[in-house]
Amino acid sequence: MMLQPSFLCFSFYLCALLLITLPIGTSSTKDIINETCETCANQSIILSYGLCSTSLPAVPVSHSANLEGLALVAMELALENATSTLETIERLLGSTSLDNYALGCLADCSELYTDAAWTIVNSIGVFLSGNYEVTRTWMSSVMEAASTCQQGFTERGEVSPLTQENYNLFQLCGIALCIIHLATPAAPSQSIHT
Ligand SMILES: *[C@@H]1O[C@H](CO)[C@@H](O)[C@H](O)[C@H]1NC(C)=O
Ligand SMILES: *[C@@H]1O[C@H](CO)[C@@H](O)[C@H](O)[C@H]1NC(C)=O
Ligand SMILES: *[C@@H]1O[C@H](CO)[C@@H](O)[C@H](O)[C@H]1NC(C)=O
Repeated sequence: MMLQPSFLCFSFYLCALLLITLPIGTSSTKDIINETCETCANQSIILSYGLCSTSLPAVPVSHSANLEGLALVAMELALENATSTLETIERLLGSTSLDNYALGCLADCSELYTDAAWTIVNSIGVFLSGNYEVTRTWMSSVMEAASTCQQGFTERGEVSPLTQENYNLFQLCGIALCIIHLATPAAPSQSIHT
């Protein structure tokens, strides 16, 4: 995948940036992660508390105890997922065991995921510049991309070889959306967690 190195560079850049700009490490870290995951899972029937509470701590910078930091972590995890799924798709496209219909779906997914990865990169930039509304619109479109990829297979009764990948990307983006919503000043949801 040609785009791979630039995504990787971006990730390193992002990590460095996060390490520099965000306050690190208090013992209440897990609490803010779990509490935030609980709030999000409570607010939405589709978001998984388990995936949220096990995914977010995997990135050390999530030890910064604020919502903006957690939102960035969720978006970075989504980016890692999308780029590694692109590798999986490339591998599957070379597989001889798939029929032409499935290969066509995979080609569509490859396009969807390439766009999705760039959309996440751009979303992170827009988020850092403070435009949460645009960030949410774009991250929603990434969730739709994951659904569209999955539907390509299932609407013809095919088993999707990307079921887990689509689910993970959908969840991570949904979690990011929820956290950004919680972090948005004066959002209607602000009153919910009091
Ligand atoms: C947070 O949730 C994780 C996984 O659900 C659990 O292992 C951990 O003990 C929880 N931490 C706290 C402080 O409740
Ligand atoms: C989530 O919902 C459960 C069950 O309704 C409730 O006990 C818990 O306090 C809620 N958690 C948060 C963080 O809102
Ligand atoms: C994708 O995200 C899920 C949930 O955080 C995680 O379990 C999985 O390991 C990730 N996959 C890759 C390849 O990053």
